[in-house]
Amino acid sequence: MDASATEIEIAILPDATAVARAVAGIVAASSQKADDDFSIALSGGQTPRLLYETLASEPYLSRLDWDKWNVWWGDERAVPPTDEMSNYRLAAEAMMDRIPVPPERVHRIHGEIGSRAAALSYETEIRQHFGGEMPQFDLILLGLGEDGHTASLFPGTQALQETPLAVVPSVAPWPPRDRVTLSLPAINAARRVVFIVVGREKAHALRMVIAADQEDAQQPPAALVRPVGGAAQFVVDEAAALFLTGAPAQ
Ligand code: 6PG
Repeated sequence: MDASATEIEIAILPDATAVARAVAGIVAASSQKADDDFSIALSGGQTPRLLYETLASEPYLSRLDWDKWNVWWGDERAVPPTDEMSNYRLAAEAMMDRIPVPPERVHRIHGEIGSRAAALSYETEIRQHFGGEMPQFDLILLGLGEDGHTASLFPGTQALQETPLAVVPSVAPWPPRDRVTLSLPAINAARRVVFIVVGREKAHALRMVIAADQEDAQQPPAALVRPVGGAAQFVVDEAAALFLTGAPAQ
């Protein structure tokens, strides 16, 4: 059974700029709905750079109520924040260094201490902030890998196993291998989850995710994202949507 219409919403836009602008609008609307705490988990990878730059520019820079933001990361590599592979570094360069979120509300994953220690530390920080069983982020931004991974939840890995934890160490099939990631239960507990998918190289993975059979144990990790808060939203460009016109999965 393919994903039902209630589980996935797809917006297909002309190009990367249109995708960034649309997701910036979603982020702004979500943040304005929050009271005194807007907890957003940022996606790693390169795709969100344009989105982050958009949010750190006008009209958002002067319009958003940054004081209520709590910025988290959906995943991180086990590297220092100055490393060129650091998800924190990309977000810092593109947005964090330019927006006035109070430092105590910027929750970096300390990848430099190693994936296991960093996962434990982040779990503690998250539980202290959210309390309760599983954190409920207001918004989680996710990317999509060509193998169907999302965050650092890679196909066939231990990180996908059922867990009561919100944060788990993970291992990627390529360097940097050691990573820290929100667990699937933490992602699915979110009020809202938005995937940002751009480029022809993601077309096959996107088709596999949209066509995934929920009964299929081999379905791509991104297809397992079914947020309790509502449908998983995919904001994609036309190049990534190449196979969404009903063409058979390759
Ligand atoms: C990471 C990301 C990962 C990323 C996808 C897409 O740490 O690598 O969290 O899930 O979002 O691999 O990456 P690109 O945007 O670079 O294609």
